[in-house]
Amino acid sequence: MAKGLFQSPKGVRDILPEEQVYWRRIEDAIRKVVDLYGYEKLDLPVFEDTGLFKRGVGESTDIVEKEMYTFQDKGDNAMTLRPEFTAGVMRAHIQHNMDQWPKPAKLYSTGPVFRYERPQAGRFRQFSQFNVEALGEQDPALDFEIMSMAYHLYDELGFKNLSFQINSIGCPVCRPTFHKELVEYYRGHIDEICPDCQSRLDRNPLRLLDCKREQCQPIIAGAPQITDCLCEDCSTHFATLRSYLDDAGRSYTLNPLMVRGLDYYTKTVFEVWAQGIGAQNAVCGGGRYDGLSEILGGKSMPGIGFAAGIDRIVMTLQAQDHLKLQRPAPTAFFVVQGAAAKAQAVRLITVLRAAGITAMMAFGERSFKAQFKEADKRHTRFTLVLGEGEMEGQFATVKNMAQSTQENVPWSDLATYLLDY
Ligand code: HAM
Repeated sequence: MAKGLFQSPKGVRDILPEEQVYWRRIEDAIRKVVDLYGYEKLDLPVFEDTGLFKRGVGESTDIVEKEMYTFQDKGDNAMTLRPEFTAGVMRAHIQHNMDQWPKPAKLYSTGPVFRYERPQAGRFRQFSQFNVEALGEQDPALDFEIMSMAYHLYDELGFKNLSFQINSIGCPVCRPTFHKELVEYYRGHIDEICPDCQSRLDRNPLRLLDCKREQCQPIIAGAPQITDCLCEDCSTHFATLRSYLDDAGRSYTLNPLMVRGLDYYTKTVFEVWAQGIGAQNAVCGGGRYDGLSEILGGKSMPGIGFAAGIDRIVMTLQAQDHLKLQRPAPTAFFVVQGAAAKAQAVRLITVLRAAGITAMMAFGERSFKAQFKEADKRHTRFTLVLGEGEMEGQFATVKNMAQSTQENVPWSDLATYLLDY
């Protein structure tokens, strides 16, 4: 790279056309699933008041402590590029009185989110999420619906070997008992844990189970399990959800150590892990957050949702070798000789596009050979030649590129010819 030329910032990338075919496939699958389940689109601002995420996601989470892109705007307000959607969705729910809507409010969003993380394969500082939320009901059948949407999306995309991990992390009734047990256990290992965990011990014990440091992994593995401390309500809720999943023949793994990295979760949490994309294998994460509305100053409003990381889904699709998606190619590409032929190509291209046929032509003054080369590079199905003879006879020589055959087709029949092929 020549000196002085800019490159995209670290951890942030361009998504080039060759990758866009995968994005389009995912967008189609998303549209199908949200329509089937009756979820409507909500677009949120890319930045919000910093306080929303501090309070919503939690002061002692990695996201808030280390990963937010925060800036003062010209009016000296603290703003943050959204590091996730859920807090913003709840803010919008409160702001627009969506509690008056039929319950639950079923909403989805897609778009970029920003986290200042250490970049590596599958981990970016700007990435895209497909985010789904259902707000207003605490029914385990809704947990099942939300999880079903995730299963459905991945089925739709033909994913294999996915692992659904589920857990219940309790509620304000049962969590204090668990915290007490956890803190007692960790006090017995105080010298073995990392400095971050030593400070988490008093501030936010549940985050201890989320520590990624190598030295803390054996301590996490031996820690008390929250599922042993669940209150009756949480326990029944979890058992009912599991019975729905069992009934539907959905496989999952109970993972009592999975607590998720955001503070708002209550009861059900889940993740979807994929194979073949390296260490960053979570393609989806979500759960219930029945206290979030009150944390943000709203009235009591249970909710559940998930976010799927689209970049990682793309990587998983690309790793499936049977699925080699091709970039879109034109049906017709005009190759012309002379100004009159070019003018005719401009006319015919308009007619073909009006008939719904993807048509292109070579621009600039180029030799026949150079134009044919471009037709080839663009993988056109048919090359339509307009030379002297064709202009005189008012036809185009239509070359079928795959079969290496050609036919003379009158201008007036071109659209029908190509459509019928
Ligand atoms: P999350 O687990 O932080 O949850 O993120 C969800 C998904 O976003 C992850 O499973 C992963 O696929 C993707 N992701 C996260 N960080 C990165 C990264 N640095 N690079 C690429 N992909 C990444 C949430 O964001 C919650 N708001 C989900 C939720 C919605 N819970 C309830 N409703």
